[in-house]
Amino acid sequence: MFTDLYLETDRLVHKPFTKNDLEQLHKIVSQKEVVKYLPEDVMSLEETKEILTWLISCYERNSPQKIIKYTVGVYHKEDEKLIGWCGLGPLEFDETEIEVYFGLSQEYWGRGLATESAGAMLGYSFSVIGLDKIVAVVNPENTASKRVIEKLRMTYRKQVKGLPENFKAYEGHLYYSMSRNEYIKTNMG
Ligand SMILES: CC(C)(COP(=O)(O)OP(=O)(O)OC[C@H]1O[C@@H](n2cnc3c(N)ncnc32)[C@H](O)[C@@H]1OP(=O)(O)O)[C@@H](O)C(=O)NCCC(=O)NCCS
Repeated sequence: MFTDLYLETDRLVHKPFTKNDLEQLHKIVSQKEVVKYLPEDVMSLEETKEILTWLISCYERNSPQKIIKYTVGVYHKEDEKLIGWCGLGPLEFDETEIEVYFGLSQEYWGRGLATESAGAMLGYSFSVIGLDKIVAVVNPENTASKRVIEKLRMTYRKQVKGLPENFKAYEGHLYYSMSRNEYIKTNMG
């Protein structure tokens, strides 16, 4: 389920990263615009290698009951290139919740690809992994990401406030969620 994913949409394929993705992933995470609203800064090749190795090591340690980190590569069918990532993992400031997150190389923005990708990941989470609830947390200035989450029809619940000092980076973020029942109602009803 976590190691052998092959999730296809009209324009994209989602599958686990391999170490061959290093160079292309680095091209993406070294773009200033891509990391602008993320907790990470632009990454060096060495940092990218470290995180890629860690993400790959998580695949077989994940289980439906305990997702450590599940980030997969997003590949563009037309040019067969790795163009971004999409994933699931515990919310940093509340590990009882699983969030969905995504990012694409800047030249692919504005074509509906992130919505296509994250929509497929939501479907997979509810139908195959069997999760009951997914959340998304976004910086209010990250208009594109906010719009993706709204297009997925996740529901805005609250603004995150009163976090302890070590999670201050998330203070004021917008918190959205979707339950499996809501997913079924909105997508299959
Ligand atoms: C967020 C991100 C993934 C969106 O990717 P994308 O493929 O361009 O997203 P989509 O095309 O599916 O949807 C983007 C929507 O935001 C809208 N949008 C984008 N920039 C906008 C802006 N500055 N103001 C208003 N709307 C904006 C688009 O018009 C589109 O909405 P529409 O379909 O109603 O027209 C991409 O910008 C990215 O990789 N950002 C860096 C990583 C990141 O911040 N990830 C989110 C954190 S989890």
